[in-house]
Amino acid sequence: MEIDSDNMSSPASNSSPGLFPDLSVDIGGIRLKNPVMTASGTFGYGAEFAELVDLNRLGGIIVKGISLYPSKGNPPGRVVETPCGMLNAIGLENVGLDVLIKKKLPGLKGIRTPVFVNIYGKTAEEYGEVAERIEEIPEIAGVEVNISCPNVKAGGVAFGVDPLAAGGVVKRVRERIKKPLMVKLSPNVADITSIAKAVEMAGADSISLINTLTGMAVDIRTRKPLITNITGGLSGPAIRPVALRMVWQAARAVSIPVIGIGGIMNAEDAISFLIVGATAVQVGTANLVNPGATMEIIDGIEGYLTERNHSKVTEIVGTLEI
Ligand SMILES: Cc1cc2nc3c(=O)[nH]c(=O)nc-3n(C[C@H](O)[C@H](O)[C@H](O)COP(=O)(O)O)c2cc1C
Repeated sequence: MEIDSDNMSSPASNSSPGLFPDLSVDIGGIRLKNPVMTASGTFGYGAEFAELVDLNRLGGIIVKGISLYPSKGNPPGRVVETPCGMLNAIGLENVGLDVLIKKKLPGLKGIRTPVFVNIYGKTAEEYGEVAERIEEIPEIAGVEVNISCPNVKAGGVAFGVDPLAAGGVVKRVRERIKKPLMVKLSPNVADITSIAKAVEMAGADSISLINTLTGMAVDIRTRKPLITNITGGLSGPAIRPVALRMVWQAARAVSIPVIGIGGIMNAEDAISFLIVGATAVQVGTANLVNPGATMEIIDGIEGYLTERNHSKVTEIVGTLEI
């Protein structure tokens, strides 16, 4: 099913020939008005950012990871700043599916930007159950399946590092939903292409990568880890070169759209992901330091295309010159 998102909400998304470049992209069953989405866990449930960001200008919104039942996540000592980035071990704290549906999603009512729910389960069956409930909500455009959280003991990255397990989860979700299905991959693997191919084979409509890289930080006075969970997920500009390499590799391995994530702080960063083969991008940690980052990135992509006389953003996707 092809869903068309509104593309008349801002001058930047006006695609009249000759005036503004067409920023719209197709990410597997759904058309976005531009390629800039928000990354899960860094933009709350969306409505919290309504006073800081024009939600209708975004290409897409991915809400915080959700599970069947509420979860408190990991104990405090969950975030630490590191050189050019941060470590977090939130552990997928979330309000659970029922509260998401009753209390959080109504806050996004009337928004003309496709909203994806990032889902997580302890078992493949649980992923399927969450997906099935999301399928019933007409306001939700699609699902992003998180098989890559490094901060939880059960599920999460355990599924994302093995092609068979990754394919198994995606197959189970695909059986339950017709909505667009995006699968979020982990960088904590030796060969990203085998995971990317496995989830494509299992029925994913698109893949998004990367989630955070497992890292550590230590307080040398107390000799204790700075993250109570001991390890955490590294995000921000520090991971961008790794993310760019993995997106380039994945984009050459699959034929479904690839969504690039990892340390995107400005338009230049986003454009480099498009050049290596991403059809769209997600902005994460940047939202925490500059809530207007996504707006600046949309404007910057448009400026880059206009300066170079491109009529469509898709003209630069996968144009890396080697
Ligand atoms: C505080 C925090 C919470 C996150 N929570 C989630 C989550 O719930 N689900 C998920 O798939 N990714 C989550 N992520 C990962 C981001 O969506 C993103 O993949 C990662 O941070 C890399 O992008 P960035 O460098 O732009 O932040 C989280 C990241 C941060 C920093």
